[in-house]
Amino acid sequence: MQEDDRIYDELVAEALRVYEKAYAPYSQFPVGAALSTKSGNIFVGCNVENVSFGLTTCAEQGAIAAAVAAGEREFIALAVVANSIEPVLPCGRCRQLLAEFNPSMEIISSSISGKKGRFLLESLLPYAKQGILESRRE
Ligand code: THU
Repeated sequence: MQEDDRIYDELVAEALRVYEKAYAPYSQFPVGAALSTKSGNIFVGCNVENVSFGLTTCAEQGAIAAAVAAGEREFIALAVVANSIEPVLPCGRCRQLLAEFNPSMEIISSSISGKKGRFLLESLLPYAKQGILESRRE
């Protein structure tokens, strides 16, 4: 458990580092995310906003894309950091994107002030894939 805490502290530190790189001129709400994989690697992402608003990509999405592009799909945990009062959690879309690779991974959420929460993705998004693409054959 203490070993877990140490790894998660490192993950939060990586998320905080990339938080500084976020491009969020419209919301003024920078977000950083760090994703750890079974091989022990960490992949990071930040939100990238757009004048069209709708094209904005979340920090989690960037981290997922970086991991998959590096050939890594076995997600263990994701840390997400923002300057929020309550620790921020991934949006619904990002929960589904994460669940694609591991519906029971851990989510560590942290505000800049250090207020933290730990969740299992399956509790934030239960039944993420139930029935999808399971067509009935007569
Ligand atoms: N955002 C993320 O990047 N991840 C989250 O978990 C929550 C929201 C971004 C999207 C947008 O740029 C800004 O935060 C406000 O919603």
